[in-house]
Formats: sequence, structure tokens, C-alpha cells
Amino acid sequence: MCGIFAYLNYNVSRERRYILEVLFNGLRRLEYRGYDSSGIALDADFPSCASSAPAPAYAGAPPLVFRQEGKIESLVRSVYSEVDEKDVNLDTAFNVHAAIAHTRWATHGVPAPRNSHPQSSGAGDEFLVVHNGIITNYEVLKETLIRHGFTFESDTDTEVIPKLAKFVFDKLHDEEGDVTFSQVVMEVMRQLEGAYALIFKSPHYPNELIACKRGSTLILGVNELSGQNSGKPFQDVKALTTNGKPKELFFSSDLCAIVEHTKNYLAIEDNEIVHIKDGSVSILKFDHDKEKPASVQRALSVLEMEVEQIKKGSYDHFMQKEIHEQPHSLTTTMRGRLKDSGVLLGGLKEHIKTIRRSRRVVFIGCGTSYNAALAARPFMEELTGIPVTMEVASDLLDRQGPIYREDTAVFVSQSGETADTLLALDYALENGALCVGITNTVGSTLSRRTHCGVHINAGCEIGVASTKAYTSQIVAMAMLALAVGSDQISTQARREAIISGLSSLPSNASEVLKLDADMKELASSLIDSESLLVFGRGYNYATALEGALKVKEVALMHSEGMLAGEMKHGPLALVDENLPIIVIATRDACFSKQQSVIQQLLSRKGRLIVMCSEGDASAVCPSGSCRVIEVPDVADCLQPVINIIPLQLLAYHLTVLRGFDVDQPRNLAKSLIQHWTDTAHSPVPGSRLMDGRRGELVLTDHGGEEVWNSIASGAPDSRVKINLVIYNFVSYVGGV
Ligand code: UD1
Ligand code: BG6
Repeated sequence: MCGIFAYLNYNVSRERRYILEVLFNGLRRLEYRGYDSSGIALDADFPSCASSAPAPAYAGAPPLVFRQEGKIESLVRSVYSEVDEKDVNLDTAFNVHAAIAHTRWATHGVPAPRNSHPQSSGAGDEFLVVHNGIITNYEVLKETLIRHGFTFESDTDTEVIPKLAKFVFDKLHDEEGDVTFSQVVMEVMRQLEGAYALIFKSPHYPNELIACKRGSTLILGVNELSGQNSGKPFQDVKALTTNGKPKELFFSSDLCAIVEHTKNYLAIEDNEIVHIKDGSVSILKFDHDKEKPASVQRALSVLEMEVEQIKKGSYDHFMQKEIHEQPHSLTTTMRGRLKDSGVLLGGLKEHIKTIRRSRRVVFIGCGTSYNAALAARPFMEELTGIPVTMEVASDLLDRQGPIYREDTAVFVSQSGETADTLLALDYALENGALCVGITNTVGSTLSRRTHCGVHINAGCEIGVASTKAYTSQIVAMAMLALAVGSDQISTQARREAIISGLSSLPSNASEVLKLDADMKELASSLIDSESLLVFGRGYNYATALEGALKVKEVALMHSEGMLAGEMKHGPLALVDENLPIIVIATRDACFSKQQSVIQQLLSRKGRLIVMCSEGDASAVCPSGSCRVIEVPDVADCLQPVINIIPLQLLAYHLTVLRGFDVDQPRNLAKSLIQHWTDTAHSPVPGSRLMDGRRGELVLTDHGGEEVWNSIASGAPDSRVKINLVIYNFVSYVGGV
């Protein structure tokens, strides 16, 4: 996943130094999405007459483009040193100015300045593009552009986009004279396959920006600076199209980079082309089958997010902050949804009856989100009586597992953008299941493509290791189970007990956070261990998996979560006095079984750390030879929400003590986005890059000028078919 950001100030004077800082700050907010290289583009001063460089093909000076390998701070340092060297005046003020920026997580090509964005059309930087997503047909486009005389400098898929823009611009310019920025971008979109969010900047169109998207999320933020609207939300559709008034406009891959500037935003829809010109925003809807796009009227929404959410405040790391935020995030997940004798989930009202009638519920997710669903499975089955099956999204797709019209498929994803989860969603939609989303991200692809769902409202999660989203996901699914099961009289008392347990969860979470110092101390005793096992069962099997995943992800220590019931069937062979083993033995129906597991491990001299309910230390470890973590006792099915918190703290402290990067762990990104294109959106009928079968990519290539025209017109007889084997999801990891 990568982050894209743009800043356009209109009718308000901003110095170059200020613009740079806005860009850097935007990138810092997005850095959690990808952090191996970055870049920016902004305007230069007009060239001096004495300049020896060849005159560019446009009036004005070529833009200033900076690209750097490494984290954002290395870009910041290199930009300031380069502007110093080149004598760029940071005090120059612009009344209107358009700038773009990008932070990258490499997929095509190693992290290096030449592979960083903005990618360029070539000499003179006539078109510059920042991109989030993957262009799946870039090789074909690249070959064609090379035949037309373009030379490529990077290994990225993105580079075809600015080059294609220049090709289209030159061609339309030669044929028709005047060509608008949106005409160029629309023609480019016509050729692109894959998932993308793009921002274009061009010196041919000074002070304008164009953004468009298909698949990847893209947000527009508007900060009106004048008169009575200043700082206030405005939801009038005309607000976007008024010009002349001073304003600041932002594009960003997510709301985190916008919230400190404005609360007025628009989640751009797939196939929309958003054009900022003269301070006015116009939106066109691209339709592959139509030559002319329709103009669209959209109103701004008001962001329900506080600036504090995106700042570390007094904490050292976002992961630490997000762990400690859980009493609050659990409260916001439940806010307005808990009633005395039931729950009210506004997003599911219309669908509850359909879910009740389903033959089964299928929980689908990846990583931590899968674990949250696993934690929810027992109470979902108990309260609804509907069988629940679990699916890791990639495995469902690999097997093409059966999904039926009578199924309710519940997709769980913090970001709402994870590739495998979205592919599984498309698969379930194709198979006719009712698709329900559980996500933290309003406006995400998951939220938009599911039939209905629940926003977990945990607030922006920035640490790559998911913590507060996990506990909020479990609580959201508990509310889902309560709502679906609310017609069952036999479980009324149980439901009421769970609702009462939910109300107390935030204070229980505050209580368990007091173990912070103990967990730090435990971490220091484990710092040199090579491995850690976590045994759980029943409600807390998921806790074992998730606790181990946290340790693995950030502390970079081998760690496995295991089903305690399977202990005798293999894992017992590993037990000795050195290997640390955490056993989760809080009070529930499995308690006595866990007592027996502890005894078996102790009799093999296991090095045990036992998590138990407060006051149970001697019940779980009569010999006193184990280290004990006592946690507050809550309703058994909600215990996973509390039990994971000490393990999150342990993973956090282990990471800090072992000297690793907490918020940006090695080789991991916050979510892994998609790069496929589906047939419905495919620019060329017949191309299908989804499923690893022999695909047919149709490319018109008469080796001449008709190439783009004929593709654009879609005339079937002008196509040459090229058969390609497209391998299954090759290299989709990480977006651009
Ligand atoms: C909604 C509002 C909330 C407001 C509340 C007051 C939004 C995003 N939420 O919350 O600000 O305070 O009403 O009544 O405006 N959805 C999906 N898939 C998903 C997640 C959600 O389709 O993965 C849909 C839901 O079915 C629903 C909509 O998105 O139609 C909003 O969901 P949610 O925010 O959970 O609904 P409310 O809790 O009612
Ligand atoms: C990635 C992250 O693998 O995606 C995990 O590194 C995360 O932490 C997983 O759990 C799923 O992400 P999401 O956004 O779908 O919950």
C-alpha cells in the first residue's frame, strides 16, 4: 500500500517553504501505508533568460521534482539540501499553486529514487503522476509506448501513465489544437487496467490538478478560507463548484492526512475524474462505453474524526497509543448502539431477517481481522444457532470454496482495502451471498461494495500491528450476534448478561492496562528467547493466535498460537525448561481442561506464564512455579477482548527492548491492496486478469496512430488478440 497526497492553494498566498511543509506533513501522516521511498513535485520559479537548458514545450519552468529512497525524513533532508544547492528561494509566495506527493511501498522495482513517485513523462516533466495501486497491463502499454519512441527509466508499472498522458496530449494537440487536462486523463484511463488512485500534475495546465480512481481509495478535502463558510462544514453541492474564493484543496489516500486541515471531505467514487481548476472542482464520471463523460454533482461530507487521533500525543509510538486508547475505542464502537435489552445496528436494520434465514454464516478475513472473526465465532453460533465457518480470504480463493446464495458472508477488515478480502468479496457477490462488512474505514472499498455492514468506529489506526481495531471488531461482531439472535427467547437472559458485560468492557480494559509495567518486566525476561508458544482454547483460541501474531509481527520473534486441545498431538515434543509458553486459562467452560494442560506442561518442566482471572493464581498454578498474569473477569465470550491486551503490551515492550521499529515493522505494510481488474471495469472487453486461467488480453496495435483511437472507439474488428497466461495474483503484494 502506498500513500498519495496533493495540496492546491487558491487565492491565498503561500510561500514555497509552507507548501513544502504541508506536503511533508501529509506524507508523514501517510507513512504508515508504505515507507521505503517517497517524492514530491512543486513549481519552480520562471526560468531566467540566460538559462542554457533547452526551452520546454510549455510556457514557464519545468516543475521541481524530488525523489528519495528511505523514510520521509530522508526525503525532507535531501529536499532542503538540494534547494540550498540549487538556490531555490523558499520565500517565493504563490497565490495559486498545485503540488503532489507520494510515499511508496515497493512492488515493481526496488526502493530507489528512479522508482519513486512522482513518475514522469520524460524530459521537461510534462506530466507527473503519483499512483496508489497496480497497473496490470503496464507491460503491454510499455511495449507500445517504446515503439512510439518513449524511453523508460524506472522499473515501475506507474511510469506508463505519465508517458501515456504525454502521448495522448501530443496526439490530441496535433489533431485538435486545444486539449483539456480532463480529456487527456480520460483517454489515459481508457487504456489502464488494474486498481489505482492517481493524481496528475502538468506544466501544460499550471495550477490545476486532476485525480481519478478505480479500486484504491481517494479522498478530496476542501478548506474554504473566506467569509462565513470559514471553518464550517458545508454540504451544498454548489460549494465545490464555486470559484474565486480563497481555499485550500487536498487529495489523499486516506482521511488521516486531511483531518488537520479540514473536516469537509468527499470520498471519490470509482471512475470519477476530479478536476481542480481556478479553485473550482468539477467531477466527471468516466464510462468506458461512452465517448463523453457525464458531469456529476457531489456534496461534501463532514468528517467525524479528531485531529488527536492522528498524533502520538504523549506516547512514544502509535502502537503504544492505540493499545492504551482501547477503553475509548471500545466506547466509540458501542456508542448509540447498546440498548437495555438489545442492540441497534443502523447499518443492518434492513438485513437482519435475511441473515437469520441464512443457511450458514461465513467469516472471511486476513491476519488480525481473521483472528477477530475467530474470536467471534463461538458466540455467533451460540446466540444465533446458525453454523459459522471460517475462511482465510486467500485460502477461500485458492480452493474456490463453495459459497451459496443462502449464505451470509461476513468480511472483516480494518482497512477495508485488503486485496484478498476484496477478491473474496467479489467471489461471494458473484455467488449470490449476502455480503456484510465489518470495517474501521468509512468510504473504503469494503464498506462500499458490501450489501450492508457495521463501521467499528475505532478511530484511525496507524501502527502497522492492529490492536484497537481487533478488540473493536470483536465487539462489533458481538453486537451483530446479539442483533441476529434477538428473536430467540431461550437466550434472552444470556443476551442481557452479554449486553451488561459490553457496557463494562471499557472500564475492564482500563483495569487490564494497569498491567503495563508487569508486561514490560515480563518482556525483559523474554528478550533473548528465540521462540514463544501461546496455548488457548474455546473463546481464547483466537487470543492465542493473535497474541502470537503480535509478537511475530513487531518483536520479530518466532511465536506460535496453538489450540491447547492439540497439545498432545505434537507441540508437547517442544516443551523444555527454556521455551517460554503462555497458557490462557481464564474462567470459562474450558477452565478445568486448561488446568489439566498446565499440569501436563509443568510435569515436563515447561517454562510457563499463565493468564488467569483475578484471584485464580493458586487455582491455575498450585505449585507457584509459573509466572501469572491476572486479568479482570468478564462475560466469558467477551474475555478475548480483555485477554489480548496484556499480550499486545508484551509484544510492544518486547519490540522496544529488542530495538526494533514498532510502528513500521520489517517487511510489513498496514494492508495489502489489490491489483486485479474485473471484467466489468475492464477497459477492453475480453480481458480478464482475475483468476489465473489463460486470459485473453486484447490490444489493438496496428503499429500506427490508430492504436489509441481504435482502442478508444472499441471497434471490435480493429483488435489484434494476444494470448497471455496471466498467473494468479502475481506480485499483488503491497500496491505501488
Ligand atoms: C450511521 C452514521 C453515523 C451516525 C449514525 C446515526 C456513517 C458512516 N455512519 O451509523 O455517523 O452517527 O448513523 O444514526 O454515516 N456499511 C456497509 N458495509 C460496511 C460497513 C457499513 O455497507 O462494511 C453500511 C451500513 O449498512 C450502513 C452505512 O454503511 O448503511 C453506515 O454504517 P454504520 O456507520 O455502521 O451505521 P450506523 O451505526 O447507523
Ligand atoms: C496485513 C497487516 O497483513 O493485513 C495485518 O500487516 C492485518 O496487520 C492484515 O491484520 C489484514 O488487514 P485488514 O486491513 O484487512 O484488517
